[in-house]
Amino acid sequence: MVTILGRAKINLTLDILGLRDDGYHEIATVMQSLSLADTITLTRKEEGITLTVDRPGLESDERNLAYRAAALIAKECGIRGGVHIDIVKRIPITAGLAGGSADAAATLRGMNDLYELGLSDAELCVLGAQIGSDIPFSLVGGTVLATGRGEIMQRLSDFPETVVLLAKPPVAVSTPWAYRSYDEHPPEFHPDNAEFIDALARGDRARCIQHMFNVLEPVTEAAHPVVSEYRERMRNGGAVCTMMSGSGPTVFGLFEDVPTAAHAAEIFCRETEAEVHLTQTSRKYEE
Ligand code: C5P
Repeated sequence: MVTILGRAKINLTLDILGLRDDGYHEIATVMQSLSLADTITLTRKEEGITLTVDRPGLESDERNLAYRAAALIAKECGIRGGVHIDIVKRIPITAGLAGGSADAAATLRGMNDLYELGLSDAELCVLGAQIGSDIPFSLVGGTVLATGRGEIMQRLSDFPETVVLLAKPPVAVSTPWAYRSYDEHPPEFHPDNAEFIDALARGDRARCIQHMFNVLEPVTEAAHPVVSEYRERMRNGGAVCTMMSGSGPTVFGLFEDVPTAAHAAEIFCRETEAEVHLTQTSRKYEE
């Protein structure tokens, strides 16, 4: 039996560079892992894959990315034997926080340990990319520039440790919809990833913050004004920076200290229907 954490992520920048021949978008995004994590426990069994998850409404069959990860690695590595996957969910779902990818990445890593497959991180990333663009990042974690369709990883200096407040409004955003809507109305403003990365290399968080922008945010915000409402609440609560993560709808705020963020969290819980988590940035995946 093995137990692995699958960490949530936020996008500190997200740029779309164009549409690819395979229908995906060429992106350049700085991703950051968080301490907020699901717990995935894998137990070896004779045959087959079964999955339990403690959040109602989540699938426990092939529609679940963790299930697909187990099936893929079992097939590719010719594993004789099965696995039971148990997921304790903490990461909000359909939120732009890569919760499903986190579970799949943890499953790949767990299967590698459980069946002593000896696959390298790079080999696990190749497998992960076959089932979801965010899975390679979820495997490595830390602060990374992801390019291609999101599966090409370039490790960056760690973003300075920062308190992060997440607020997920009670709306669902489909990632394909967000990308399609972007194509229909591409926003004019784009983040400057080179400037962000230069500031990061110098450990200059204030300058990083000036270059944080997500091109999918205007798209999702146009359909869900609650995104801008939550950003304003984050600012009023003392966030030094606030943005939407991925295709949304989760809004995150970066805070200077825990008491300020905890107070803002309390107000969110009292005055909105948000799913709220107080967490922090986390470093690269370590066993
Ligand atoms: O790779 P993943 O399954 O997470 O992607 C979900 C959907 O998001 C894709 O089917 C596609 O519509 C869109 N997408 C995209 N370009 C990317 C990543 C995702 O168009 N780079």
